[in-house]
Amino acid sequence: MKTLMRIVLALIVLAVLVIAAMLWVPVQHTPSKSLDEPEAVVTVARGEYIMRASDCLACHTTDGGRPFTGGRKIDSPFGIIYSTNITPDKETGIGTYSLDEFRAALYDGLRNDGTHLYPAMPYENYRFLSEVDVRSLYLYFMQEVPAVHNAVPQTVLVFPFNQRWGVRAWKWLALQESEFQSISFDAQINRGAYLVQGPAHCAACHSPRTALMTQKGVSEKNSAFLTGGELNGWSVPDLRSKDSVSAMWSTQQMANYLATGRNDYATSVGQMSLVVEHSLQYLTDEDNLAIAAYLTHLSASSNEGALSLQEDKTPTQTERLLTSADPSMPLGARLYLDNCGGCHFVDGRGAAEIFPALDGNTLVNADSATGLIHVILHGAELPSTTHRPARLRMQGHAWRLSDEEVAALATFVRQGWHNQATAVSANAVKLLR
Ligand code: HEC
Ligand code: HEC
Ligand code: HEC
Repeated sequence: MKTLMRIVLALIVLAVLVIAAMLWVPVQHTPSKSLDEPEAVVTVARGEYIMRASDCLACHTTDGGRPFTGGRKIDSPFGIIYSTNITPDKETGIGTYSLDEFRAALYDGLRNDGTHLYPAMPYENYRFLSEVDVRSLYLYFMQEVPAVHNAVPQTVLVFPFNQRWGVRAWKWLALQESEFQSISFDAQINRGAYLVQGPAHCAACHSPRTALMTQKGVSEKNSAFLTGGELNGWSVPDLRSKDSVSAMWSTQQMANYLATGRNDYATSVGQMSLVVEHSLQYLTDEDNLAIAAYLTHLSASSNEGALSLQEDKTPTQTERLLTSADPSMPLGARLYLDNCGGCHFVDGRGAAEIFPALDGNTLVNADSATGLIHVILHGAELPSTTHRPARLRMQGHAWRLSDEEVAALATFVRQGWHNQATAVSANAVKLLR
């Protein structure tokens, strides 16, 4: 499967290379934008804040490494890409970058020696950054971040992906929009839209990808924007459609989720927990509310769903089965009672801000069961944030449940209460163990 995908991608990229050679696409140089705020608001503090919102630290630092010194391995469909040193060190970092060159890296994916950066660096989204934010970021990196000499491993991808000039043709296709456009008269919604589309690059994970791996929708002009993607086999949820799960959350519940990774219905796991831990928890309450207001605006939900989710207390068939003490209870149900019910309860609703609801849960119902199997096998931990310092941990069950048992349990959870997802096979579990 993976080889097949490689071959298909290789063929596509080769085709693009041929087209590129024919057209000899120009290198993109997006001009600087006008300063719509006074120069005085360009400050180191603002730069640090935008750095948090943009999550530069997470990708440009290895676990236990010094901040921004690079070398982190980033999985891409083309192979492993190493992030680079972005401290102001003159030899191994970005110490020689002028403001214009720094802007070109963020807007056009260009290194200051003219090479093309791989889109593992989310410049498809950073193109929307305002001039004040770009200048503030530059000031922060040049003045506040200590220069550290650290040469990172070279990224070596297989042919044809090692041909960086091919990226130039790819960019020509991908980088169509470059200016953030206000979408509403409401200042809060506009602020949210800017953060989502620009610095916080939510679309890098939550938008689907085209056959050429460009983001399908960097702004809401594209109806596929934020309608869900895929990341290393995990389904990334739809945030936009009216019937997406989070469209039923109130704006405040959404803001709570962003700032703490938890709300009355759900908790974050995996990549999203890292986004909360490294980025969103540092935003002001106003900014997280602005993001939430924009998402509510996008899905145009009435928020009535959230109420019915809470108020409908009629026991489901699953709940009755679990409380029946029936000795012939199916394997999946028995395993749930023995291993899960203590925290997620027989009604599958969990407990607000502590244990996520499994009834109606996005991860549980995702087309791909990879995330669910992963959590059952290896557990999950919610990050500690300023608002909710407690780390909440769910143990992994790999040591006590066989592949067949995990499959039966996952199938039970995916089809219990109101859930209606497909069954899970023991083989799928074996592959992830
Ligand atoms: C999702 C991961 C990711 C995030 C987030 C990210 N980067 Fe990068 N960045 C990369 C990778 C990977 C490369 C190297 C790409 C390559 O080798 O083609 C890179 C390269 C760069 C370069 C080029 C440096 C050089 O000379 O090699 C600069 C400058 C840069 N990033 C700055 C930033 C800033 C500033 C932010 C935050 C606003 C940021 N990056 C956020 C992954 C990321
Ligand atoms: C690095 C990839 C990545 C980025 C960037 C990212 N997310 Fe996520 N997000 C995920 C994944 C993976 C999940 C699914 C796991 C989970 O439910 O915790 C998720 C889950 C969510 C959920 C829960 C939805 C549900 O139905 O349960 C919300 C809400 C969300 N993200 C909002 C955002 C917003 C808003 C942004 C930008 C500020 C963002 N995400 C940026 C990867 C990402
Ligand atoms: C000791 C309490 C406890 C037990 C027992 C437990 N869980 Fe959890 N579970 C949690 C906590 C806390 C989280 C939140 C962790 C996170 O999001 O990182 C969680 C998260 C989850 C999630 C992720 C939901 C989401 O949207 O992010 C799933 C799915 C899940 N549990 C299923 C199960 C299943 C199935 C079992 C039985 C094998 C089980 N849990 C047993 C406490 C528990």
